[in-house]
This record gives sequence, structure tokens and C-alpha cells, in this order.
Amino acid sequence: MITVRVPATSANCSIGFDTLGLAFDWRSTITFDKSETLKITGCPDEFCTPDNLVYHAFDFACKKSGIATPPVHIDIDSDIPFARGLGSSSQCVIAGLVGANLFAALGLDTDQLLELAVEIEGHPDNVAPALFGGLNVCVMEDGRIHRVQLEARDWKALVVIPGYEVSTPEARKALPETVSLPDAAMQVGRAMLFEYAWVHQDEAQLYTSCKDILHEPSRAKLIRDYPAMQELSKTHQLPFWISGSGSTMAFLSQDEARLEELKKEIEEKHPDLEVRLSRVSRLGAEAFYG
Ligand code: HSE
Repeated sequence: MITVRVPATSANCSIGFDTLGLAFDWRSTITFDKSETLKITGCPDEFCTPDNLVYHAFDFACKKSGIATPPVHIDIDSDIPFARGLGSSSQCVIAGLVGANLFAALGLDTDQLLELAVEIEGHPDNVAPALFGGLNVCVMEDGRIHRVQLEARDWKALVVIPGYEVSTPEARKALPETVSLPDAAMQVGRAMLFEYAWVHQDEAQLYTSCKDILHEPSRAKLIRDYPAMQELSKTHQLPFWISGSGSTMAFLSQDEARLEELKKEIEEKHPDLEVRLSRVSRLGAEAFYG
């Protein structure tokens, strides 16, 4: 049996639309075992079919490697909510690819796995941290992925998860088609500031850099709790963003006590929101036999 553990992720990280993503210390476990026929367990019945995304990625990796897809029993143990901006689909994709690589001895290296993942997912900012961990900067150019990985640097996160979903395709339709030159220049400056602040663990500068103008203004309208959380970010001067395309929102800090305090405040004022403390994980997908 092959066991694969894959982290939840947060894509965009405010000013890094479609290019930045980080891994959380919050994992799902997916196992791949020998079977006479395809069998999928551990998730709701409607997902236990050949359309299951873990199996789709498993099958895709085998076919791309020119190998007949072997029958397999896939078991999925995950408490990461679906369609909330925590990379649940990327987790499935990475689990399926990594699982197939070991289960069917495909011999793919991690760069090849990332290429396949981007082929399935369409953009790299969730699949890269799910595979590699830490904070990943990915630039796609002429079909090539240029990637650098920054360490987790002791950043912690408070993840605020509303009960409602936001569909990524719908949230992509809400995006502006063009931005002005001054806005583009501002975004570039903030992106550079973000990277400096991340590496140097400078929370005040990270807070300053986290003011996106590409995707958050339009997507904030899809998340009714956004204004209240944004206000808390200002009150507490904490870096804050919509995770992926939402509905989850994340606050970042070096200081867990600040996030604990905010967690209590949100739990008191907004009992309908799920609030979870996590750390940025230096580890991506892990796989082992047994
Ligand atoms: N970069 C993607 C987006 C992440 O914002 O649409 C969600 O998959």
C-alpha cells in the first residue's frame, strides 16, 4: 500500500494572483492499495466514481507515462472543506499523481509531477505548495513553469472558513479584464515588498504589502463576511487575504498569541464561522510504503 499525505494550501496570498501559494500544516491522507477493480472509499458516495479527482489524476499520470492504469483501491481521509479556497482540488490532483508515481512505478521526478498537475489544474499556485511545501512563486511562460520556493519562516495563520462555498470558475468570471498602469505598478511594488517581508519576517511590511487590486475587490463581493474580517485586519494590523478564490480568508502573523486573541474575538462575534489556527508548513506532499 502507498500512503500519501498532502497539505491544504492558500493560493494568491493577496498580491500574488495566480503566482503565489503556500502550504498549511493541515493534511489529508490518501492511500492506494491493490484491488481487483477500481474502488474508492472515504468520501461521499457521489465522489466514489471514476470521475473522482484523485483517480482522474492517478489515471492521467499512468496514461501520460504510457502505462495501462492498474486497478486500485483509493481511500481518502480528509477534513479539508471543498470549494472554500483551501486547495482541496489541488490536494486530490497531487495525491493522485504522487500515488500513481509510486504505485505504478512511473519514475516521474517532481518537476514532471508539477507539470502534470498544472495541466490538470490550469494554474500552479495551489498545486506547487501542495507538492513542495513552503511559499512558492510560480511564473508560467510559453508553457514552462519557473518556480522558486521560499521557506515557511515561522509564519502562522488564522484560517477563517465560512459555511458557504465559492466556485473558482464563477470567481474567475468576476475578475476585471484590464487594470490601469498605476494599479499595475502598485501591485508590482507590493509583490516585491511581500517577498522581502516574508523572508525577513517583517510583519508590519507584510501587512502593508497585502492590499491586492487584481482579484480581491471583485471577489470580496462574493464573500459576505469579508468586510468584517478586513476591518479586523485593520484593527489588529495583521496581514490578511482571501485564500485562493474564497470563501476562506486568512490572517498571518509571526506571533501565535496575536492570532489566538483574534481567534477568540471572531469566535465570540461570528459564531457561524469556523476558525482554525495553523502554521505555514515547510513540507509538501509526503509519500511512503505502508
Ligand atoms: N489562482 C486561482 C484563482 C486560485 O484565484 O482563481 C484558485 O484556484
